[in-house]
Amino acid sequence: MKIQQNLLFFLEMETVRICVFLLLFLSQTWAETDELQMVDMKQDVGRDNSKCNITVNFWAELKELRDMVITSKSKIEKLEEEKSELLSRVTTNENKVALSDARLSASESETEELKRQITETPKVAFSVGLTDAREIGPFNTEITLKFSKVFTNFGQAYNTHTGVFTAPLRGVYYFRFTGFSSRTNHWFGVILNHNDKRVSLNQDYNDDVAYATISNGFVLELEKGDVVYLVLPSNHVIFDDSSNRTVFSGFLIFPL
Ligand SMILES: *[C@@H]1O[C@H](CO)[C@@H](O)[C@H](O)[C@H]1NC(C)=O
Ligand SMILES: *[C@@H]1O[C@H](CO)[C@@H](O)[C@H](O)[C@H]1NC(C)=O
Repeated sequence: MKIQQNLLFFLEMETVRICVFLLLFLSQTWAETDELQMVDMKQDVGRDNSKCNITVNFWAELKELRDMVITSKSKIEKLEEEKSELLSRVTTNENKVALSDARLSASESETEELKRQITETPKVAFSVGLTDAREIGPFNTEITLKFSKVFTNFGQAYNTHTGVFTAPLRGVYYFRFTGFSSRTNHWFGVILNHNDKRVSLNQDYNDDVAYATISNGFVLELEKGDVVYLVLPSNHVIFDDSSNRTVFSGFLIFPL
């Protein structure tokens, strides 16, 4: 639509230009003819007043025509200016269209990327119970606790044979645990480790007849392949039975 309008406009401009050339050409021709007439007229001075009068009128008309040409010229200049302004507007609009096309395709590919992330991001979440075999420990060295009762283990990132959670992708994860003890006059507790680094020591001395518990939770940033596991400190005990009192849970909050 815009391009059609532009073409029409351009054709009009060309027509005006041709008219002006014609006018210029004619005025030139008329001027020459007039000069001849003036010579004629001078020879016939006093003999033909009406011819003189016609000549004078002709000069006046010619002057008027020239004025018209000048006016037309300035109008054309103005139109040319308007034309180039319109052209630049058209270019700007075309650029805008191209830009919004680019934005559209960018947001389309973003949507695709999100879809891909949702469908392809591994689902990582687990909750495991320690054992039904009641008390573990005390030992004279640390041991990695192997939680053998699987409540959930999406992505199989927790290994019940080794007791180690391995991050399948770089991301932010949440881990929590609860430990239980029923043995009096003993230390009980667990250590949370990230790779070979201790994150927290959670312990209590059970000096009461009543049961005792410890618990804690952490948000951890893990690289792909990082490991997280719970350790029983040396000379500590921990207890679990079919009531599921000592439980370790974790899940991926979001990938990085
Ligand atoms: C010349 O033209 C003017 C105006 O048209 C007119 O009034 C006048 O009578 C004319 N003179 C002659 C001599 O024709
Ligand atoms: C402990 O977990 C097991 C396995 O899910 C379940 O069968 C059992 O009922 C749970 N024990 C209690 C006391 O809820």
